[in-house]
Amino acid sequence: MSDISSKKLQLGILLSGGGSNLQAIVDAIDAGHLDAEISVVISNKPDAYGLERAKIAGISAIGLNPKDFADRNAFDQAALNELRKHQVDWVVMAGYMRLLTSTVLDAYPNKVLNLHPSLLPSFVGAHAIRDALAAGVRMTGVTVHIANEIFDEGPIIAQRAVPVLQDDNHDSLAQRIHAVEHELYPEVLQLVAEGRISVSSGRVRIEE
Ligand code: GAR
Repeated sequence: MSDISSKKLQLGILLSGGGSNLQAIVDAIDAGHLDAEISVVISNKPDAYGLERAKIAGISAIGLNPKDFADRNAFDQAALNELRKHQVDWVVMAGYMRLLTSTVLDAYPNKVLNLHPSLLPSFVGAHAIRDALAAGVRMTGVTVHIANEIFDEGPIIAQRAVPVLQDDNHDSLAQRIHAVEHELYPEVLQLVAEGRISVSSGRVRIEE
C-alpha cells in the first residue's frame, strides 16, 4: 500500500497495451530491486490489459478515451490532472503508443521516460521489431530515453543490444527483446530513484 508521507519516488505509468513492462516494474518493486512506488497507471485504451494488471497489483488504474476529449491537449490535460492528483514524480511510458504534448512534458521537464524496442535512432515508430527484421540487421535492441515531443526521440539513458538470429521471426525476436526490456527498464528506474540521472546540453549524465 502506498504511503504518501514516505519519500519514495512516485511513478506514473502510461501504457496502451498488455503491460508486460508494467508487470516487470511491479515485480521489481515487490522483489526489493526498485525503491519506488507506482501511484497510478493511465491508458489511452480503456480496455488495455495493462489496466487489469494494475488493478490486480492494487494500483489506481485509469482509462481515458481520446474520443471523449476535444483535442490532444485536452486529453493530455486530463492525464496531467491524474498524474498530479496521484503526486507523480516521474512519468514512465511503457508501451504508450501516443505522442505526448507539451501539456505533460512541460509539467515534467526531463522527467518523462520512454522505452523503445530498438537501438534508437534506428527503427522509430510502432513497428520497430518488424522493421528491424525487414531491414535484415544483425543487431537490434532496447532503448530507454527521456521523451520529448517527437515520437521515440530524446536524450538516451541506456541501450542494450539484442542479436537478430538467423531463424528469427517476429515472435522469437520480440520475446528476446521483451525479456531485455523487463530487466533494463527497472534498472534505469532504480537509477532515477537514486537521483543519478540528469540532463545537460541535451545529453544524459549518469552519476557513478
Ligand atoms: C514494448 O516492447 C515497448 O518497447 C514498445 O511497446 C511494447 C509494450 O509492451 N514501445 C514502443 O514501441 C514505443 N514506440 P508491453 O505492453 O507488454 O509492456
